[in-house]
Amino acid sequence: MTTYNKIKKTLNINVDKHLNDGFASLTHFWQNTDKNTSKQYKKSAIEYLQSEIFNLVGEPEQYFIPLKYDIPFPPKSAPKFKFIDLFAGIGGIRLAYQNLGGKCVFTSEWNNFAKKTYEANFGEVPFGDITQINAQFIPNHDILLAGFPCQPFSIAGVSKKNALGRNHGFQDETQGTLFFDIARILDCKKPKAFMLENVKNLVSHDKGNTFKVIKRTLEDLGYEIFYKVLDGKYFVPQHRERIIIVGFKKNRNVRNIEFKFPDTSESKHKIKNILEPSVDDKYTLSDKLWNFLQEYAAKHKAKGNGFGFGLTDLNGISRTISARYYKDGSEILIPQKGKNPRRLTPRECARLQGFPDEFIIPVSDNQAYKQFGNSVTVPLIQAVGLELVKTLEQIYEPKSAEAIIL
Ligand SMILES: C[S@@+](CC[C@H](N)C(=O)[O-])C[C@H]1O[C@@H](n2cnc3c(N)ncnc32)[C@H](O)[C@@H]1O
Repeated sequence: MTTYNKIKKTLNINVDKHLNDGFASLTHFWQNTDKNTSKQYKKSAIEYLQSEIFNLVGEPEQYFIPLKYDIPFPPKSAPKFKFIDLFAGIGGIRLAYQNLGGKCVFTSEWNNFAKKTYEANFGEVPFGDITQINAQFIPNHDILLAGFPCQPFSIAGVSKKNALGRNHGFQDETQGTLFFDIARILDCKKPKAFMLENVKNLVSHDKGNTFKVIKRTLEDLGYEIFYKVLDGKYFVPQHRERIIIVGFKKNRNVRNIEFKFPDTSESKHKIKNILEPSVDDKYTLSDKLWNFLQEYAAKHKAKGNGFGFGLTDLNGISRTISARYYKDGSEILIPQKGKNPRRLTPRECARLQGFPDEFIIPVSDNQAYKQFGNSVTVPLIQAVGLELVKTLEQIYEPKSAEAIIL
């Protein structure tokens, strides 16, 4: 059987140059061989293959053959459920739900560097800007997943519309925000469940109004929702608090939907267990930067605010890694004997988020820091996912694992 990488080579596809929706259609078509899903992608995949980009020898259909995926995280062949991965980043949420037996049928992410990492690991290029994607185009799925950007949104217009006596649903309240795109896809596709991830502050943003709108919108769409702030420290050696919102489509046959977030009791993780044994000197802070960080911290301490840099206790856990880690790495510094401290390597950042070592990092260090900082703690997401899938099975009482699939 032809391998995925061989067919890419035969077609002369240099992924760097093919991160558009055409290649997204083709890779989604290749991965989704079941009739219902593949029909969504066939037309655009053929158009892409016929476009002048490829000097095809033979007919496009010739390239629609079953592929063997020689990538670290291939698609599941007998999936228990189908999901979509929105605001996908590098696929941390996908990885967790694939591990639970799910098959991703659609993914969207607009950053080209993230798309490159995603393709290298999952063999699929995400579609771009979600605001430009018609929800009808998205295949049916059981679970919608999204770690959406915390884009503050204003609901200032709502009371004015109320005052004018206009009827308004979620569209009026959330229009123009990325949360709106999640809501419109839920409204159109009506998956059985969803899981959303965001920063902890979402709950308190705009004095709690933002979260109120989110909650009401999801409930108005017919979902029963559960939410909790969870800390990654129970799964990896990193303090990382994130809100997870889980929702289940209300079902007439089920009075009480029971869902419980995973138990988190004791954090036994130590940062020393994820460090690489030998690390290039380029990760050691220069004297200039180390002096600057120390002076900066001292200045702020004197004023009574800020913690400055974060020199990590190797037997403890780190602070939260953020997308800005690439700037100076000051939030997580590793002490070294006889040397200035160093920042984490990209591989250590991957481990800090619970990514396995097979995860390919095909981008520069700076991009990798941004990508892992933006991503999720994979085992935490997987622990939530396990509970979500259990609840879905209770609601739909499948006789076999396959029965959960739409
Ligand atoms: C918080 S990150 C999610 C990271 C992801 N959960 C992971 O595991 O890597 C949000 C992502 O949304 C993407 N994004 C923002 N606006 C978008 C849009 N309009 N369409 C598609 N992706 C978008 C950003 O590029 C970013 O990668």
